[in-house]
Amino acid sequence: MRLDKYLADMNAGTRKEVKIAIRKQRVTVNGEVVRDAAYQLNGDEKVTFDGEEIVYRKYQYYMLNKPEGVVSAAEDARHTTVVDLIDERRRKDLFPVGRLDIDTVGLMLITNDGDLAHRLLSPKFHIDKTYYAEIEGQVTERDKDAFAKGLRYDRDLVAQPADLKTLPSGRDQYEYLDEEGNPVVLEPDQYSLVEVTIHEGKFHQIKKMFEAVGRKVLYLRRISMGPLTLDEDLEEGEYRPLTEEEIALLKNK
Ligand code: URA
Repeated sequence: MRLDKYLADMNAGTRKEVKIAIRKQRVTVNGEVVRDAAYQLNGDEKVTFDGEEIVYRKYQYYMLNKPEGVVSAAEDARHTTVVDLIDERRRKDLFPVGRLDIDTVGLMLITNDGDLAHRLLSPKFHIDKTYYAEIEGQVTERDKDAFAKGLRYDRDLVAQPADLKTLPSGRDQYEYLDEEGNPVVLEPDQYSLVEVTIHEGKFHQIKKMFEAVGRKVLYLRRISMGPLTLDEDLEEGEYRPLTEEEIALLKNK
């Protein structure tokens, strides 16, 4: 691989910027300054850029606990993206696998492995996604049956059967701000804590399914995606590389 591609792939700058940096003698290979952008690497050399060692990774895989207010895109003109939160030397072609709404938190897989992403997102593979949600109102057996049968939530959209499970509700009042910013207080019998597993992933699916049974999602967090479960040690906004075992599990799906 050419030296300029190696550095640009690992986000040391654009191809043009790294060419200039190479010319300015800011790059070494095995301790020697190299001034030729086309210099061929085998892959086992030690490359530095301004003294920082740049290790080449063909693929990178991260698990991120997405916070609210961050968009699940690689680039965005207005908002911080989930990829912006990967705050270390990383490939320039990372992207999030699938989407979460701006106000949804939780598990996000970020990689540059297009084949893996395609398989995880393809409807053919039915990758389960599980969400923890806080819902206004009491979720009933009827709601569970409706989710289990699959329900129509748009004129043309029918959700496939999903598993809806209620969790023991807290004893505390539930407080949130409505769309106008006014505080709303719910008594313990006015809200429900649930876990939902869907086998597909349509736009706003969880919110729309609850809307179809007349309920509102107040808080939504993705906790798993196929064999990958959100690491409880990750605070919102934190990330870590996937382990070899997690990568293998995802690839075998
Ligand atoms: N369903 C939603 O409604 N929103 C999400 O972010 C994910 C699933």
